[in-house]
Amino acid sequence: MIFIDACFRKKTPYTPIWMMRQAGRYLPQYMEVRNSVKDFLALCKDPKLAAEVTLQPVDILDVDAAILFSDILVIPLEMGMDLKFKKGEGPVFENPIRDFKDLEKLYNYPEERLTYVYETIKIVRKKLSKKKALIGFSGSPWTIATYMVEGRGSKTYAAIKKLIYTNPKFMHALLIKLTEAIKAYLIKQIESGVNAVQIFDSWASALEKDKFFEFSWDYMVQIAEFIKDRYPNIPVILFPKGVAGYLDGIYGKFDVFSVDWGTPMDLAKNYLGDRYVLQGNLEPTRLYSKEATKEGVEKIIKIMGAKEGHIFNLGHGMLPDLPVENAKYLVELVHDLTKR
Ligand code: CP3
Repeated sequence: MIFIDACFRKKTPYTPIWMMRQAGRYLPQYMEVRNSVKDFLALCKDPKLAAEVTLQPVDILDVDAAILFSDILVIPLEMGMDLKFKKGEGPVFENPIRDFKDLEKLYNYPEERLTYVYETIKIVRKKLSKKKALIGFSGSPWTIATYMVEGRGSKTYAAIKKLIYTNPKFMHALLIKLTEAIKAYLIKQIESGVNAVQIFDSWASALEKDKFFEFSWDYMVQIAEFIKDRYPNIPVILFPKGVAGYLDGIYGKFDVFSVDWGTPMDLAKNYLGDRYVLQGNLEPTRLYSKEATKEGVEKIIKIMGAKEGHIFNLGHGMLPDLPVENAKYLVELVHDLTKR
């Protein structure tokens, strides 16, 4: 698998590419499946349909890896929290977690209830070409916790950050509970057939530097090292979003550092390029224009070279109304420009 070789800095015929949130609403084929079920969670819980939408971007765009179709919030869902995806608002938990009493009510082993995810993985791995990798994933403890505590997406993260400064003991207890669940969840994904795992820390940038390392990065590294100790052949990819100013502190045993679009690629290369394979980091909004896409791709490839040590990706997720044609163009362009 070209993608897996690239994660380990082995020689590949070109730089592989996949896109965060590559399965989703910008694909008419996704909308068709999505409209055939009650809601988004029903799709996540239906292994046959989830497998179908996982495979769509591989067939349509010819990306080098599929990413499991699911969501980072199935963990709190299966811990017993009431999750709804509201139109125009995104995910909402009606009863957020704010103290030890709330925490005690959560079920400790969500990985046991996530059988629909493992079923999806088995179906996808059977149908996916042997040349293409299947990436499993989880949210980071911190990013999942932001939704559990805030109850919804937030601009200020005031509720969870107040707890960081006023009740750090509680915050660590919540993060430890999530860390243990995520370790077990990712191991089960690997045992079901995923070839690599990525941890999304979408809201890393909500934290000042020392708090980021204490409340987010340290737990991500614990999970990464737990996996590397048991499955050294499974690449672990970490994606903390919005941490350009914190790169000098990045440490730990993992394989690929995913660079967000706000972090200049040359900066990431200087700090981390010798120690980790870098993934990224086209600004997703460039995909509205072919010219802007080409300009962005050329800039990144000039920095990273058409050689080992780089996996092409967006610097955050695909947007719901991007033209499919431009996404196809991006994949062809990267394969073309990086041919060895
Ligand atoms: O293609 C893929 O990348 C695989 C599937 C995937 C989804 N969510 C499907 C999804 C993945 C990897 C995620 C991760 C995820 N979910 C993250 C981390 C990545 C990031 O974008 O920062 C986060 C923060 C979430 C939580 C979440 N899920 C939000 C905030 C929302 C609503 C916002 C939105 O994009 O609509 C979701 C819903 C969601 N997850 C959709 C999809 C395809 C849209 C739901 C729909 O079809 O109506």
